[in-house]
Amino acid sequence: MSDKKSDKKKVILRIKRQAGPSDSAHWEEFSLDWRPSMNVIIALRDIAENPVTRDGKKTTPLSYDSNCLEEICGSCAMLINGKARMACSALIDDLEQPIRIEPLSKFPVVRDLAVDRQFMFESLKRVKAWIPIDGTYDLGEGPRVSPEIQEKGYPLSNCITCGSCLEVCPQVNEHSKFVGAAIISQVRLFNMHPTGAMHANERLEALMGPGGIADCANAQNCVEACPKGIPLTESIAQVNREAWKHALLGWLWG
Ligand code: FES
Repeated sequence: MSDKKSDKKKVILRIKRQAGPSDSAHWEEFSLDWRPSMNVIIALRDIAENPVTRDGKKTTPLSYDSNCLEEICGSCAMLINGKARMACSALIDDLEQPIRIEPLSKFPVVRDLAVDRQFMFESLKRVKAWIPIDGTYDLGEGPRVSPEIQEKGYPLSNCITCGSCLEVCPQVNEHSKFVGAAIISQVRLFNMHPTGAMHANERLEALMGPGGIADCANAQNCVEACPKGIPLTESIAQVNREAWKHALLGWLWG
């Protein structure tokens, strides 16, 4: 008679661990009972709750980021079998085992799989990736946004700042300050909005300095890696045209 316990399907994960930003990394392997519809974030949660390695050794609780659990916040981005993707939408059944899990490599590791993506948020501030609506008085309804602009803008608004496009970009490295495709695409989004257009030149100027749009070498990996299917290369081309136009007009009238 078969032992029901050992008959249980297993999920094997190899996870890169790192105690802190300046500690060295090492790998640990874990074995979990398979469950239907299991995704990577569920597996990580199980390990965090019971941090025991495959060979039965007690280890430190696992650290990782997650929030929405439905591929909206971008916080659970990590390398899964070498590919940047969201742990909450990565189904175990679709992955080759042992499943290799590592933190994104273009951001500083905080601990284990949790990375510090502050660089992206600082870049969003640098390009003023927002529509200014603050005021001490009623600003009114604002201009209407045409259906054409809404249609173009909606896919761009799906960016979850996960950092997948930076992860695959060869121009994002320790020698460069390139802001990456997500940030450039947000400039396109806010510049096409009738109210956002008031600050279009400031955004373009922010992208014309070091680490700006001129650092893009057109590898086009970003558009493949984006989990939200954002037309990132189209955005880069459009913003590049706008930046050239702005530079030329500045030269003619300046
Ligand atoms: S937890 Fe928000 S995208 Fe995965």
